[in-house]
Amino acid sequence: MTEEIKKTHKTIEEAEQEGKYIRKVRSFVKREGRLTKGQERALNEHWESMGLNHSDGLLDTGSLFGNDNPIVLEIGFGMGKSLVEMAKAAPELNFIGVEVHKPGVGACIALAAEQGVQNLKVFEHDAIEVLADCIPENSLTTVQLFFPDPWHKKKHHKRRIVQADFVEAIRQKLIVGGVFHMATDWENYAECMLEDMQTAQGYKNLSATNDYVPRPDSRPLTKFESRGHRLGHGVWDLQFSKL
Ligand SMILES: C[S@@+](CC[C@H](N)C(=O)[O-])C[C@H]1O[C@@H](n2cnc3c(N)ncnc32)[C@H](O)[C@@H]1O
Repeated sequence: MTEEIKKTHKTIEEAEQEGKYIRKVRSFVKREGRLTKGQERALNEHWESMGLNHSDGLLDTGSLFGNDNPIVLEIGFGMGKSLVEMAKAAPELNFIGVEVHKPGVGACIALAAEQGVQNLKVFEHDAIEVLADCIPENSLTTVQLFFPDPWHKKKHHKRRIVQADFVEAIRQKLIVGGVFHMATDWENYAECMLEDMQTAQGYKNLSATNDYVPRPDSRPLTKFESRGHRLGHGVWDLQFSKL
């Protein structure tokens, strides 16, 4: 229970009854990690133009990028290398990244500025709350979730970000025909993702075999994917479109 809740409510249940939204299980452990000088400088110099704040509430996606190009949302972009690469390669799209790890956000902004990328903005915040509070319904053409933390142990599976509620929240934010693209190097997580997506209403599997899709060329190799390759892991891509 947070200090704020402790002060004003007896229990989480009471707080929830009063309409206060409280997350009990999170998909990440906040690692503070030190910022490098470059990351700190990038955050200071470019947050104004590239940063988005959860506290500002619902985004006006029409005016955000000064054009109405389709919007791609990436959840958990890590250090942002593959996200910046994608944004640079697709100036006809707009990208919004969401990541909780501040050094990763700093690194992403530093790289985007260095590469002159104009079509990318980022949140340093929990994606679950960003989805709930900042992303309008029917506004995204693609949502990408690449190598989410696998939470290997069964007792930790409740921390996995892909759950029925999450899948439904994503569906609401996608436009009709929009695509939810996931990739993981952990077979059990891939199987659970597939089960959640097959159970969810309002999605169509884009796989010809009704399970996984071949690795799309549009997805650059991510840091975690390279690590997975070194460890001899397989990779599973899933793509579902909103009906
Ligand atoms: C295993 S890493 C993968 C990073 C990157 N996608 C890659 O493939 O290299 C998972 C990332 O998701 C981030 N993450 C986990 N839960 C999150 C959440 N609820 N909101 C935003 N980011 C989250 C973590 O901080 C971490 O950087």
